[in-house]
Order: sequence, then structure tokens, then C-alpha cells
Amino acid sequence: MTITAVKNAVTEVLPPVTPEAYRQGMSSLAAAVNIVTTNGPDGPAGFTATAVCSVSDNPATLLVCLNRSASVHQVFKNSTHLVINTLTSQHQPISNLFGGKAPMAERFESGEWLTSKTGSPMLKDAAVSFDCIITDVKSVATHDVLFCQVVDITQDEDADALLYYQRGYNSACKNT
Ligand SMILES: Cc1cc2nc3c(=O)[nH]c(=O)nc-3n(C[C@H](O)[C@H](O)[C@H](O)COP(=O)(O)O)c2cc1C
Repeated sequence: MTITAVKNAVTEVLPPVTPEAYRQGMSSLAAAVNIVTTNGPDGPAGFTATAVCSVSDNPATLLVCLNRSASVHQVFKNSTHLVINTLTSQHQPISNLFGGKAPMAERFESGEWLTSKTGSPMLKDAAVSFDCIITDVKSVATHDVLFCQVVDITQDEDADALLYYQRGYNSACKNT
């Protein structure tokens, strides 16, 4: 029996939980809130993302999950670089702006934006900004997983963190 056949047999006996049950469970997984930005051939673009995760420190690699149905999907697909801007508690309004349906130009009217080494918009007062080259993309279920090699980091070690938890915003302060 091939590994694929075994996986198919297991999935028949133990199917995945429903999307609703999954979303309910995920609401208790507190996550940092980020604005992921790029400036590729299609111009500047950005979206709010909690699906951001460390992969490795050598070479420094993060991943970002992007819904293929998002309007920004094609823009990121055509780009080679991005910045992951991790937000502070001051950034709740801009998180909603980049996480909603506002036109792209309107999104960048809020916040103070610098240009990263790779040429992507970088939020000036982010807790940390990871400037990245996109090295690989894998499609899994509804999302594209973007693997990103980190080429530069700008950090404010005194910043607090904006978290998304139980379907709402929270903040976390630095331990004293
Ligand atoms: C708190 C929050 C977290 C989000 N996390 C993600 C994410 O990890 N991946 C993703 O593809 N979309 C995520 N979204 C939704 C996108 O930000 C949203 O699809 C996009 O900004 C607007 O959709 P559009 O690009 O289709 O106009 C999140 C939205 C919010 C408010």
C-alpha cells in the first residue's frame, strides 16, 4: 500500500473537523497581528495576517499563509519580496483597514511608511519588520503558503504586541 493510499484510508475513517469547528478552535489560539506588504510589478499592496510563523533560523525563514481568493493574492504571486510588519496595540485601526475591503491606495494613506531594502512598504512604528525574499510557494487547501527568507530586520524592543484572540484584539506587554 502506498503512503497516499494509507492517508486516504485514514481520512475516510477520521475526516477533518468542519470549517466551523476548526474556526471555533482557532479562536483560542492567540496570534500576533501583522500587515504583510509588497511592492512588485503590480504596485504596492498589503493585507492583515495572523497566519505567520517561524520556520527556521538558518537560513532565517518565515512563512505566511495567503488566501487565494483575496484580492491581493495575484499581486503577491507576481512579486518576489515582502515585509512582515508586526503590529503594536496602537495599530488596531490600521489592522482593520488592511484586513477589510478598503481600496489599496486608501490602505496606505494610514500609517507612516518607509521603504525596506527589498523595496516593500515598511511600517515605521511596527514592533518588528521582517524584510524578506519569497523563496517558495506551496498551495495547501484554500491558501498559498509563502516561504520567506529574511534579509533584514528592524525592531523596537520596547513595543508591546497586538494579539488576536477569541475573535477580538488584545495586547501583551513586555515582561518587567
Ligand atoms: C485579524 C485578521 C487576521 C487575518 N489573517 C489573515 C491571514 O493570515 N491570511 C489571509 O489570507 N487573510 C487574513 N485576513 C484577511 C485579509 O487581511 C483580507 O482578506 C484582506 O486584507 C482583504 O481582502 P481582499 O484582499 O480580498 O480585499 C485577516 C484579517 C484580519 C482582520
